[in-house]
Amino acid sequence: MKTIEVKSRFHNYPIYIENNLLKSLRDYLDVNRFYVIVSDDLIPETYVNLVREVCENHLFISFPSGEQSKSFEQMERIISIMQDHNVTRDACLIALGGGVTGDLSGFVAATYQRGIDFIQIPTTLLSQIDSSVGGKVAINTEKAKNSVGNFYAPIMVLIDPLTLNTLPERHFNNGMAEMIKYGMIYSKPLFEFIESNNVKNHLEYLIEQSLLIKKYYVENDEFESSLRQILNFGHTYGHAYESLYRFEKYLHGEAISLGMLRVCDNIDIKSRLESILNKFQLPIFDEATEEMLLPYVKKDKKNRKDALNLIVVNEIGKASIQKVIK
Ligand SMILES: NC(=O)c1ccc[n+]([C@@H]2O[C@H](COP(=O)([O-])OP(=O)(O)OC[C@H]3O[C@@H](n4cnc5c(N)ncnc54)[C@H](O)[C@@H]3O)[C@@H](O)[C@H]2O)c1
Repeated sequence: MKTIEVKSRFHNYPIYIENNLLKSLRDYLDVNRFYVIVSDDLIPETYVNLVREVCENHLFISFPSGEQSKSFEQMERIISIMQDHNVTRDACLIALGGGVTGDLSGFVAATYQRGIDFIQIPTTLLSQIDSSVGGKVAINTEKAKNSVGNFYAPIMVLIDPLTLNTLPERHFNNGMAEMIKYGMIYSKPLFEFIESNNVKNHLEYLIEQSLLIKKYYVENDEFESSLRQILNFGHTYGHAYESLYRFEKYLHGEAISLGMLRVCDNIDIKSRLESILNKFQLPIFDEATEEMLLPYVKKDKKNRKDALNLIVVNEIGKASIQKVIK
């Protein structure tokens, strides 16, 4: 088992990474507590059942799979079910699923009766290496993605890499985009390991390496005033692609792949990036022009009054923030 401790202004919390962890949940959870288990309707039933069996006292809430569920409507629905069941402040919410589940139900946990404990049990590669750690929780509005949310740390993150065995290939590759991003911004050795190995044979190791990088940024700038923005490499244009196509054409990581390429000027780095993205069938070309993307780029949360903050990589493993005057 691998353990990572994350320091947070809320409370420090552990991440446990272990194959078959879902089968030994009793070792991690206080079985006498009341849990609200939230999951989308496409998470394999076996995982849901494993968690429900261990949590004797629980309320289970399912919601429709997909980005469109990160909405006020679903948030209100979940809160209303919790209120119908008189869920009290000492309950603990378990987010079982991918980044959508973690973001939506984490935001519910952050706001329900001014905040209740929550545990992340991420089951997609993207959520295991990224969204379950760092405390960002959010929903989307009609106008912008993740525009209503908060920072709210989980009390624990439980990762079972074997859950990835059932993940559709496209979603696995989607998570690989974020892992490639970590290599690009922080770790040439990680980038090269992904380039030259069959990643599926090294998942525990790669998840740990990715999370150590995330931990570095989160601990040094939890509320994203500066350094943590580097984690958004590829996201300014990535979010623009997602918005332009109304979240229908690309998954998050696919859009980030295009976003990383869009801000890559160095020909050698760009060609290595294209090859590694190709290895995971991630997109390397889209016909959208700068003109079409710019209105969305200007809405990016990293922007300040008079400048766009763009994350650039001039050497694999090293990133910086570049101010572009509007
Ligand atoms: N909070 C953050 O820091 C952060 C960081 C990155 C991304 N995000 C957010 O994460 C979201 C994307 O998350 P995602 O890519 O995990 O998508 P997702 O949560 O929609 O999951 C993808 C699909 O996989 C299914 N699934 C999940 N686990 C499975 C498994 N083990 N086997 C089979 N099917 C499984 C789900 O039911 C869903 O249909 C976006 O909304 C993005 O904004 C948040």
